[in-house]
Amino acid sequence: MAHALGITTSALQLDPTRPVDDTALPALVARRAAHEPLALILGRREFWTLDFAVSPATLIPRPDSETLIEAARAIFTGREPPRRVLDLGAGSGCLLLAALSEFTTAFGLGVDRSFDAVALARRNAAVLGMASRAAFLCADWAAALDGPFDLVLSNPPYVPTGQIDGLMPEVARHEPRIALDGGVDGYSAYCRLLPDLARLLAPDGVAVLEVGAGQASMVGRLARGAAFASEPHHDLSGIVRALVLHPVPP
Ligand SMILES: C[S@@+](CC[C@H](N)C(=O)[O-])C[C@H]1O[C@@H](n2cnc3c(N)ncnc32)[C@H](O)[C@@H]1O
Repeated sequence: MAHALGITTSALQLDPTRPVDDTALPALVARRAAHEPLALILGRREFWTLDFAVSPATLIPRPDSETLIEAARAIFTGREPPRRVLDLGAGSGCLLLAALSEFTTAFGLGVDRSFDAVALARRNAAVLGMASRAAFLCADWAAALDGPFDLVLSNPPYVPTGQIDGLMPEVARHEPRIALDGGVDGYSAYCRLLPDLARLLAPDGVAVLEVGAGQASMVGRLARGAAFASEPHHDLSGIVRALVLHPVPP
């Protein structure tokens, strides 16, 4: 209703008698009744206190993913902050731009295979005043890249293909498959990303990967196979949501 009135929700609370523009509201309600996520109706979503434009091109930023930023902040507390940050599967740019808002001297590169997601992330970087420190590239994971990066972030698609249609309709019908589909077992993106990390990371670099509920031990095992030790970080529900990967010395 606040969106239909063009005011903030707090203004709505202060003036509950204000008349509603009844030309806009029914269409908005109909979209929500058809399970379109509120963030897509409003065209924006807050992440890590920053305001992001969102679109059907990529995932709507999730509060759970803020665990990756908390983990990155914890790792670099008391040591030199990262100068080069890479985000694989950048989507709206939420992880990269949140990281750059924390590490204010860093430069970042975000990669996404979706052209429309890259365009969205570039717009977000510009609106948030970080376009001079963030670049976005349309590419297949890290195939076009070389390191070194001090911090690599990734929230890859990790839903097993056969489970996507059973997700809530807000997700299954309105968020793109490319942002969700983790292959038959949910791990195909990790299998693509992990072998590239050694090449991408600086000697003291770390990677922080998001994992789905219950996927931490399998991703940890895959990481060990790629010569990385993993350290779990929990989200606000107590679920392991992020793995911090450190290279294991040979
Ligand atoms: C789960 S979404 C994460 C988006 C954003 N980082 C976030 O946390 O909200 C995964 C992203 O990976 C991208 N993606 C999928 N396959 C890819 C590939 N082969 N190379 C690069 N990006 C890919 C999708 O387009 C999508 O934007």
